[in-house]
Amino acid sequence: MTLAAKLYPILKPLLFRMDAERAHVWTTWLMRVAHAFRLIGSEAPTEAKAVDVFGLRFPNVLGLAAGMDKSAACVDAWGAVGFGFVEVGTLTPRPQPGNPRPRLFRLPEQEALINRMGFNNPGIDAAVRRLEKRRTKAIVGVNIGKNFDTPNDTAQNDYLYCLKAAYSVADYIAVNISSPNTKGLRDLQGEDAIRRLVGALRQEQGRLGFEHGRRVPVLVKIAPDLSEIQIEALARVFNELAVDGIIATNTTIAREAVAGHPLAEQAGGLSGAPVTKCSTEVIRAFRELLRPSSPIIGVGGIMCGADACEKLDAGAALVQVYSGLVYRGPALVGEVLDAVARRG
Ligand SMILES: Cc1cc2nc3c(=O)[nH]c(=O)nc-3n(C[C@H](O)[C@H](O)[C@H](O)COP(=O)(O)O)c2cc1C
Repeated sequence: MTLAAKLYPILKPLLFRMDAERAHVWTTWLMRVAHAFRLIGSEAPTEAKAVDVFGLRFPNVLGLAAGMDKSAACVDAWGAVGFGFVEVGTLTPRPQPGNPRPRLFRLPEQEALINRMGFNNPGIDAAVRRLEKRRTKAIVGVNIGKNFDTPNDTAQNDYLYCLKAAYSVADYIAVNISSPNTKGLRDLQGEDAIRRLVGALRQEQGRLGFEHGRRVPVLVKIAPDLSEIQIEALARVFNELAVDGIIATNTTIAREAVAGHPLAEQAGGLSGAPVTKCSTEVIRAFRELLRPSSPIIGVGGIMCGADACEKLDAGAALVQVYSGLVYRGPALVGEVLDAVARRG
């Protein structure tokens, strides 16, 4: 067990006494300091755990989901904790402060979080400058979105700007059209809107690939709140446009699983244990519909090794965690990787 994993059970009661966002800021700072003094570090990645997906070699199947390191402030530290990949962002063309605080809430009884952060981030260009200096061997994905005041009609320009800006530093790009906290963003999941957006991004990806002499996969991150008809429509478009892969899923706007909790009606996206099942079902549905050449990154409510294995069994090629890390700490990384290794 790494030092970070051993320390977390001691720190957790202190962190959980703080406001959730404050605890997040503290943890990020601690991670950076601990990494600078070489106090965190897992065993060196072994070839046995490596997997090839999207034409990339991932040191292992487990990644840090978007939103934890929105500004690409500590990718090296996350790599040292043992993640095979780190997805930074969501990043937008211009910096923006996000929604007013409080905007992040813990529901410990349900091992859940509700957030309405609203893409607080320093802007894609600042993140790119940080990523140019990274040293980690972990794969780095850059998750991109639109500014809150960009209308959906011109959202494409924001995504294209971010794709171009991040192309030289990203191992893959994640197109976020599924956050519930930017007004109208999820409307981009409509069949015509997604065809236009992903079509434009694919075209630009081709041009940039030629210019840079390197092809960077572009994935689309989707919501868990999709009907069967919407899933079929999305899969049809993804197959038509031969998308490189998808990330399933983002947070949910549903509240059944936490009904009655005093914080249940806070606006925002719900994550953690209450989304485990539903996100796995979305993965299973897409795996049946998507061409085999479009791998899925499974995310949503992975709180233990078995949850990760279920997502892989449902058809995910890789998995990510966010809320599980808040409740379980870095020990979750080793637990997931051990469970995956035992699964064979
Ligand atoms: C506080 C918070 C902020 C998040 N920010 C983003 C984001 O900026 N972009 C994004 O694509 N997903 C974001 N997510 C969603 C996560 O990446 C993940 O898809 C979701 O939380 C489900 O996984 P989990 O149950 O392991 O947390 C955020 C989640 C949380 C809890």
